[in-house]
Amino acid sequence: MMPTKVWIFGYGSLIWNPGFAFEQRQVGYIRGWARRFYQGSPDHRGIPGSPGRVVTLVADTQSICWGVAYQVAGESLESIFSYLDEREQGGFRRHQVDFYPKTMTTDAPAPAVTTAAVYIARDDNPHYLGPASVPEMALQIFHSKGPSGLNRDYLLRLAESLRGLGVTDVHVTELERHVRQLEAQSKDGPSD
Ligand code: SIN
Repeated sequence: MMPTKVWIFGYGSLIWNPGFAFEQRQVGYIRGWARRFYQGSPDHRGIPGSPGRVVTLVADTQSICWGVAYQVAGESLESIFSYLDEREQGGFRRHQVDFYPKTMTTDAPAPAVTTAAVYIARDDNPHYLGPASVPEMALQIFHSKGPSGLNRDYLLRLAESLRGLGVTDVHVTELERHVRQLEAQSKDGPSD
């Protein structure tokens, strides 16, 4: 039987643009995963042959990944999943994770763990790019664009959204710093 309420966890563009109707939105985290700009995007923030970089999750027992979970009604789930499967088709697959809501006050009772669906692009998909140095990734992000817009806007929007949630992700912050430097340099123009 279809569950009456289902949670979907977003850690990338789903944070600022879920694109589907939801009943509740909750800030929180998942354990054992690190957010990384390791997935190539030939369809949203780049083009085939010149992909951008978007976030995926890399298994890491030491890490937690902050994001947002959306609660949706079971009867809308089929259409939401078909929308998201299409949107995340460039290498992402659906998985189940345990979601931990952020406790707003320290004296609140421990939050219940909820299971949530999450889209992860694993290292065996054809668009996976994997790690590179921060300056290299920043350069690729700075120069890439695709049908959904500039790759740098995706990064800057993510960084801004995470700040809005009151959380820090060093990987994202470092890339943001480098991309902002590249932007400043390009505004200054070439030096003689
Ligand atoms: C997500 O936001 O949860 C998946 C990755 C993305 O679409 O940016």
